[in-house]
Amino acid sequence: MNRHDIALTVNGKTVTGTVEPRMSLLDFLRSEIGLTGTHMGCEHGVCGACSVLLDEVPVRSCLILAVQAHNHNITTVEGLCNEDGSTGDLQDAFRDAHGMQCGYCTPGMLISAHALLEKNSNPSVDDIKEAIGGNLCRCTGYVQIIEAIQLAASRKMEAGQ
Ligand code: FES
Ligand code: FES
Repeated sequence: MNRHDIALTVNGKTVTGTVEPRMSLLDFLRSEIGLTGTHMGCEHGVCGACSVLLDEVPVRSCLILAVQAHNHNITTVEGLCNEDGSTGDLQDAFRDAHGMQCGYCTPGMLISAHALLEKNSNPSVDDIKEAIGGNLCRCTGYVQIIEAIQLAASRKMEAGQ
């Protein structure tokens, strides 16, 4: 099968690769460039565990081909960390509010929450439910995830960000 050269920006860095046309962006991120923070769940576009930002918009990376990401900007959960590699504010809020149990859904939840807070600094509970509506969690019952996003929003506002 013909392979294709691709170049994309992942978490602010240019990444290149040569991929089969059928390779998903999820497989490219995890297997080709070692960003295993993006989780593989259903691989059918249902669970949201594989969520990443494509040009700042949350997408399911299992449904996007790596070749479709050519010349685009991708942000994965690793990109939500601080420059020194420590956890970012949103990740800290999830930890502090116990917004995870097994953590499998957490990267996708963080991506959806990040996208929400970028456009809405003071989201209502309904706004949060809407934003994470495509992310399934089998553990938490969602309450602490919502509280974690509220905590992140309030800390962001207190910090004047
Ligand atoms: S792994 Fe992509 S939506 Fe479930
Ligand atoms: S914390 Fe286990 S699936 Fe959400």
